[in-house]
Amino acid sequence: MNNGIADTRMRAASPFDAAALAAMQQACFPDEPWETAAFADLLPLPGCFGLIALTQAAALVQPKGFALCRVAADEAEILSIGVLPGWRRSGVAQCLLADASVLAAGRGAARMFLEVAADNLAARRLYCAAGFESVGLRKAYYRRGGHMVDAVVLKREL
Ligand SMILES: CC(C)(COP(=O)(O)OP(=O)(O)OC[C@H]1O[C@@H](n2cnc3c(N)ncnc32)[C@H](O)[C@@H]1OP(=O)(O)O)[C@@H](O)C(=O)NCCC(=O)NCCS
Repeated sequence: MNNGIADTRMRAASPFDAAALAAMQQACFPDEPWETAAFADLLPLPGCFGLIALTQAAALVQPKGFALCRVAADEAEILSIGVLPGWRRSGVAQCLLADASVLAAGRGAARMFLEVAADNLAARRLYCAAGFESVGLRKAYYRRGGHMVDAVVLKREL
């Protein structure tokens, strides 16, 4: 049941969440699954942090989505962000982005970057609404079955 954003809370991800994060990544990006080890290796790195969006509407706490971010000097990058299909269009990604931005700014980031597939219109609308602007294009960056898709590089001042 999707009870909207009022039922969403965030918590920091730890390396112990690596398997749950990999399962969400797989559900959100079937063409680009990440191994559990990728999350387990990234999360302890300096400047890296993860967020998990949760619901408590049901008797059990359930994950709705996640974001993984890295801060280096005064720049932050969203490495991955996804919301499980049953929880979409209720503002969860907007919340993840907003919370990641606050945390990144708190760690010294002045701007945030991310890459999005040129054909990912849902994500591009999300980022546009959040104030990101296009600053570059990486040609043929993502593999989609038999063809390649460009990546748009987006930036927002924090
Ligand atoms: C893209 C994604 C993260 C959006 O998550 P979400 O929680 O549904 O997004 P939100 O509810 O916070 O949406 C915020 C705004 O983004 C835009 N948006 C989100 N999904 C959209 C869709 N399917 N179609 C059009 N606009 C969309 C809308 O402007 C929306 O505001 P609105 O609902 O008031 O119109 C989610 O669809 C997803 O996980 N997709 C697969 C993984 C992915 O593409 N990740 C991003 C890679 S860069």
